[in-house]
Amino acid sequence: MSTIVVVGSQWGDEGKGKITDLLSEESNVIVRYQGGSNAGHTVVDGERQYVFHLIPSGILHQGKKCYIGSGVVIDPSSLLQEIEDLRKQGIEVEGKLFIDAKAHVVFPYHKTLDEKKEEKRGQNKIGTTKRGIGPAYIDKNARCGIRMSDLIYKDILEKKLKRNFEEKNENLLKIYNYDLTLQEQATILNEYGQYGQALKPYIRDVSLLVNQAIDENKKVLFEGAQGSLLDIDHGTYPYVTSSSPIAGGACTGIGVGPTKINKVLGITKAYTTRVGEGPFPTEMLDKTGNDIRTKGGEFGATTGRPRRCGWFDAVVVKYAVRLSGMESMALTKIDVLSGLEKIKICTSYQYHGEKINDFPTDLEILKKCIPVYEELDGWKEDISKINDFQDFPLALKKYIEKIETLTNAKIAIVSVGPKRKQTIIREKIF
Ligand code: IMP
Repeated sequence: MSTIVVVGSQWGDEGKGKITDLLSEESNVIVRYQGGSNAGHTVVDGERQYVFHLIPSGILHQGKKCYIGSGVVIDPSSLLQEIEDLRKQGIEVEGKLFIDAKAHVVFPYHKTLDEKKEEKRGQNKIGTTKRGIGPAYIDKNARCGIRMSDLIYKDILEKKLKRNFEEKNENLLKIYNYDLTLQEQATILNEYGQYGQALKPYIRDVSLLVNQAIDENKKVLFEGAQGSLLDIDHGTYPYVTSSSPIAGGACTGIGVGPTKINKVLGITKAYTTRVGEGPFPTEMLDKTGNDIRTKGGEFGATTGRPRRCGWFDAVVVKYAVRLSGMESMALTKIDVLSGLEKIKICTSYQYHGEKINDFPTDLEILKKCIPVYEELDGWKEDISKINDFQDFPLALKKYIEKIETLTNAKIAIVSVGPKRKQTIIREKIF
């Protein structure tokens, strides 16, 4: 049995797409387990760059199966667009990609509600991607959601949609003064019926397929989206997404037992970024922060928004290591830090003069936490072509060692650029 969960250990955008793509070479099956088209996983294949929102990042490899688990919320138009884009590049996904029948569907009224809710929140907005993620998960949990299997049957879809239209329209009208017209309702019913037929060949029981693959000793990779600090339970609530990106989310979001998971690989960026609102203790609002944003291309892959940038926060990553039981991590975008005279690492926080080593659960405390930094020497060398850890500048080795010590996790992979070959594997993952 060989199963690995890939989890983001910060606020998302850690480079999970690249690492999942890389590990996919050795995997038989790649399964996405939560989130929706709010994610943007970037994969570079030769001179081509792909951004996947719903399709697992292993899709570019031949002979692999890619599954989307029931914990994912699916915007069918976005998924069909991705399928079409791949087809245009000569990559056929039919027979290779399967979606769980139990996965919930994102409808246009979810996106409208997401937008309207954000508008109404004003200064207190979350900064969502406006992809309808929160409202779709609300419906799922309120037990009025519509699942992929419902899209196939016109009569069932019509019945369930009618009920939802009534309820949504009442809310939209009363609270947001927005009318979901009968014309719009008819268009949605018609379009989603067509999506159901287009996606029918892809719909399966993914839990069954994954468990069969595990029983057959296949190598299975579980791909998380977003990051641990955006987790609905353990993240910086309410500035979180509405799903469970931590490793435990793979069990519920696919339908596999915890006893079937062998390893958890955290993906950790060499510095910290976050998009959207919410506390961010190590945020840099200065020139260094700006320089890192530009050099690291820190702009949202889904929304294009500039990402907030900060120093590496070991308190955050140590927390993520604990939440998911990560033994090892992939450190990404370390090349972005080359050329800095000094590099800071946040080792603990200070709150009202008191030292805090563990990530606070109370957001009011977190907001007032002052990062305590240790300053390390930087390195000047261009490291983007180095392919042996031993050839790294001493200062970089020390930086990596420091991260390992502070977070209690081994850095098994170091990524020095977006290309596959710009990766140093220190420890075999599968
Ligand atoms: P939502 O998931 O669109 O509801 O957005 C909730 C929060 O999660 C916002 O702060 C988003 O910016 C953030 N978020 C959602 N998806 C991603 C992602 O893939 N990377 C980074 N942040 C994300």
